[in-house]
Amino acid sequence: AQTVGRDADGVVTVGGVDVKTLAEQHGTPAYVLDEADFRERARAWRTAFGHDADVFYAGKAFLSRAVVRWLHEEGLNLDVCSGGELATALSAGMPADRIAFHGNNKSVGEITRAVETGVGRIVLDSFQEIVRVAHIAQSLGKRQRVQIRITVGVEAHTHEFIATAHEDQKFGIPLAGGQAAEAVRRALQLDGLELIGIHSHIGSQIFDMSGFEVAAHRVVGLLKDIRDEHGVELPEIDLGGGLGIAYTSDDDPREPHEIAKALTEIVTRECDSAKLRTPRISVEPGRAIVGPTAFTLYEVGTIKPLDGLRTYVSVDGGMSDNIRTALYDAEYSVALVSRRSDAEPMLARVVGKHCESGDIVVKDAFLPGDLAPGDLIAVPATGAYCRSMASNYNHVLRPPVVAVKDGESRVIVRRETEDDLLRLDVG
Ligand code: LLP
Repeated sequence: AQTVGRDADGVVTVGGVDVKTLAEQHGTPAYVLDEADFRERARAWRTAFGHDADVFYAGKAFLSRAVVRWLHEEGLNLDVCSGGELATALSAGMPADRIAFHGNNKSVGEITRAVETGVGRIVLDSFQEIVRVAHIAQSLGKRQRVQIRITVGVEAHTHEFIATAHEDQKFGIPLAGGQAAEAVRRALQLDGLELIGIHSHIGSQIFDMSGFEVAAHRVVGLLKDIRDEHGVELPEIDLGGGLGIAYTSDDDPREPHEIAKALTEIVTRECDSAKLRTPRISVEPGRAIVGPTAFTLYEVGTIKPLDGLRTYVSVDGGMSDNIRTALYDAEYSVALVSRRSDAEPMLARVVGKHCESGDIVVKDAFLPGDLAPGDLIAVPATGAYCRSMASNYNHVLRPPVVAVKDGESRVIVRRETEDDLLRLDVG
């Protein structure tokens, strides 16, 4: 867990560093990431799944070179979904054979680079891609290890934009109508491909394990059909990521060991009953590893009480550093962290500095009634899909990621500067 506490003055400390010092040294807003917590969570996943399984951290949640090194040291693999993520992984020394490459529209350039550098697997997402990857691999004189991503037809209980196993969406090849079986047939015929397994990712921010169980059941069913039709037992299955985290105290996340146990048991049971050798399982947690390890530190600016409604508390960032509230109606909590306060709580809405009324960071929150400009407030659980989805809207500069550990802080992604912005502007 994050090593968060309060010192004698009521100032919050994390990783042995207090937030006032962090704000002085690094400015606000800033994402503050607890390195020990990150490593602990990564290790918990690794240990839970043991040596018969692989954990691929989903880089889309948050990726930087420091993070890649931590993952490498903790024995995790990496899932990337673009040339940029691949470049980051390789530049930080992640061995290519521990990288999985995803995406529904990988470019020829991206595929070529992935095959050339020898990524451990490419996850094929369409019929066209099966042929494209085979062709590229063959022209490079290689045989690429691949999985086929299928949609198993599960309705995951999560926001529509982050559910991915129902059929009417852009990812994967439907199991329905024999399409996945046909994809397997084609992949097995192509010399450039070594088909190592089937992939399923049902969605994100999921708490209910039943969706994973149905997915595992259907993936194993396909493995059985493949064995019956081709006499081939595929050695791997990947059940994707998607495990939910606690954004507010209402959420009750599963622990990695519970998830590992549930998934391993169901796959083993299904395989036993189908008389199949149990494949090697892999999973791709992103949010569950990095999400809880960071909070965003903001400085309070203007405060606007609207009689009978609520008080609008503006911070020095907003939808450019956390788009999740605007995009998914995501819920966050917030706390005053630079001092203690015994003032009566007031109903507040934490908003950013952007020219848009939907620029909301925390929709409904209680903050002390004596909150004042200059106070520091923190929004927890912003490690995943916040920096990685950050934008320059209104030419606001993207905040740094500051790692804290053992009483020290260090910048792992620096704050953007106006020079950074202007560098791209030609003419
Ligand atoms: N594997 C695949 C193939 C994925 O597409 C994803 C997430 C993951 C693994 C990792 O899922 P996680 O364990 O992090 O839930 N921007 C959205 C989330 C999009 C997730 C996309 N795919 C959000 O902020 O909630």
